[in-house]
Formats: sequence, structure tokens, C-alpha cells
Amino acid sequence: EKDPRLARISSSIRVIPDFPKKGVLFQDITTLLLDTEAFKDTIDLFVERYKGKGISVVAGIEARGFIFGPPIALAIGAKFVPLRKPNKLPGEVISEEYSLEYGKDVMEMHVGAVQEGERALVIDDLIATGGTLCAAIRLLERVGAHVVECACVIELPELKGRERLGDNPLFILVSG
Ligand code: PRP
Repeated sequence: EKDPRLARISSSIRVIPDFPKKGVLFQDITTLLLDTEAFKDTIDLFVERYKGKGISVVAGIEARGFIFGPPIALAIGAKFVPLRKPNKLPGEVISEEYSLEYGKDVMEMHVGAVQEGERALVIDDLIATGGTLCAAIRLLERVGAHVVECACVIELPELKGRERLGDNPLFILVSG
């Protein structure tokens, strides 16, 4: 059964054609953030799923994982760890390269932020090809953490990102 809160979340997300370039239908979550009920419901749905699951780390992916991750971390009693674009974190980092539609990017995590054996949740606003979430999983696994699940507000199912994640569980609220 579908949770009745999902319809409002879905309709609060604005879809903008040809942004940032022609042919792309951009899923704009800034309008979800303007809808106080939809924003609260979004956080609540994740908190209801992850509270009491022994998760000690919420890892948020730059940039929009930094919006949804921290309120979830606070509510479930986990720490928040930012996974950032290169050369943004000031301490010692580990890095993972991942492919974009055109070219490559790098994701970084501070050494010492996550300990071996910790249970981690990865948060982002959206999964498209899944390359970004895969890089996040690799970073966390390199330091010996267990990635319990990846969670996003939106999935673009045609891009088959879920397949790229393989056996790693993915939880999403709505399809774009
Ligand atoms: C978007 C989105 C995800 C990623 C998903 O971020 O917020 O992080 O793309 O794409 P993938 O599943 O194909 O890897 P974007 O690259 O626009 O970066 P930004 O959040 O810093 O703007």
C-alpha cells in the first residue's frame, strides 16, 4: 500500500525541461523545501524507516544530500558525514572517481570520519545512472563500514541506476 504522504511529496517537486541543458528534465527539489508539510513528510518517512536500525552514520552526497541528510541523522541519533566534490574537505581524505554523462568526477570523504564496522546510510536527493551512489558506497566500504541502504527522494527508473547498485539496497520515495 502506498503511503498517502507520497502524492504530496511527488507533486511538490518541480520538473523543469531543458535544464541544465537541452533534453534534460530537471527534478527541482527546492519547491519541495518550500512546502513545509511535504518537506516534513519526506524527513519523517526516512526517519520511520531507519530509526532503531543501529545506523551510526548518515553520509550525505554534495549538494542536495546535505539538505536531507542532517535532519535524518539528528532524528535517528547518527552522525552526519559529508561526501564532497574534490578539494573542498580540509583534512586528510580518501577519493573515488566516478563517471558522469560527459567526463569524470571525484568524491571525497575525510579519513577518520567513519570507523571500521560502523553501519551507514547514504542519502542523496536523486538517483539517475547510479554512478554517484556507487562511489559513495566504495568510499564507505574502503574504511570498513557496512552500507545498510542508500536512500533518495527521487529515482529516474529509465536510467537503471538500481541495477548498477547490484546487491546494495536502494529505497526511494517517488519516481521521476
Ligand atoms: C545530481 C544528483 C545526484 C547525481 C545523480 O547531482 O543530485 O547527486 O546527480 O546522478 P547519477 O545517479 O547519474 O550519478 P549533480 O551531479 O547535479 O551535482 P550537484 O548536486 O552538486 O548539483
